[in-house]
Amino acid sequence: MTGKAALVTGATHGLGLALVEGLARRMSAEDTVYLTGRDAGRVARAVEALPAGGARVRGEVLDVAEPDGAGRLAARVAERHGGVDIVFGNAVMRVGPDDDPRAIVEDYAEVNNFGTTRLLRAFAPLLRDNGRFLVVASSFGTLNHLAPALHDRFDGLSSLAEVDKQVAAWRDAVKDGSARGGDWPGFVNIPSKIAQVAAVRALAGPRRDDDLARGILLAAVCPGMMNTPTSALWWDVRAAPSPAWAAQALLDLVFRPVDPAQYGELVRDGKVLPWR
Ligand SMILES: NC(=O)c1ccc[n+]([C@@H]2O[C@H](COP(=O)([O-])OP(=O)(O)OC[C@H]3O[C@@H](n4cnc5c(N)ncnc54)[C@H](OP(=O)(O)O)[C@@H]3O)[C@@H](O)[C@H]2O)c1
Repeated sequence: MTGKAALVTGATHGLGLALVEGLARRMSAEDTVYLTGRDAGRVARAVEALPAGGARVRGEVLDVAEPDGAGRLAARVAERHGGVDIVFGNAVMRVGPDDDPRAIVEDYAEVNNFGTTRLLRAFAPLLRDNGRFLVVASSFGTLNHLAPALHDRFDGLSSLAEVDKQVAAWRDAVKDGSARGGDWPGFVNIPSKIAQVAAVRALAGPRRDDDLARGILLAAVCPGMMNTPTSALWWDVRAAPSPAWAAQALLDLVFRPVDPAQYGELVRDGKVLPWR
């Protein structure tokens, strides 16, 4: 298959769907954008509802919590296209203030964190020249949101396996209750987003020079507060930007030349948010 290949996880609604729509609009008719999600029916309905024009949008089921899911899809994409050009790791498990962290943390880490490291392992090796791999994190993904005693857990990690090990330790501490009353924040989103950024940093370290020479950007991105059902569970987001609006700054990172200062960092509105 000729043309470029792009892929977005968790794209059945919210920011993921807006990213697919924006990619399709800005890419060409010979290109393919994979709209992926965990439910075949929701994936098919999301594809059908998209406006015509631009790149071809193809639905694929990818439950990022499934251990072999990303690897299997990566193999299919590689067979069809010979590589991948753009990947957005966007999927997130929806939790609300009434959820007991001990009850949800296992699934939460599986989707948001192990799902992210699986995606990085499966698709980063397929990136073609001028490729983009962007992990959607948030402004909570910097170390200053964590007690200083915990910084070493996520700072300076040099492999995805080390990141997974730290995520597992945090998950287990939340599950068995030992995280309560200690240094860990009660809001599970914070360690989870920090670990997503740590995963990008760990993979980026050894790849940096080669990727930049090839025009590749690997980074974590922050869309800012948006009006989606997930954020509405926590905050009054009626006045917050729509996912389509928030997607624009993320798409600019795809279609504008790479700024080396953004490589391996957390980027919001084109600016790097300091890790420490
Ligand atoms: N909303 C905000 O204000 C805000 C702020 C900062 C950062 N972010 C980040 O932006 C990203 C998108 O957020 P959002 O508000 O657009 O979320 P959302 O509307 O809740 O959408 C989440 C998407 O992830 C999918 N998903 C859930 N579990 C999955 C799994 N196991 N495998 C694959 N897909 C799965 C959902 O699919 P289903 O239809 O199957 O549920 C849905 O399509 C997230 O990474 C979030 O943390 C959001």
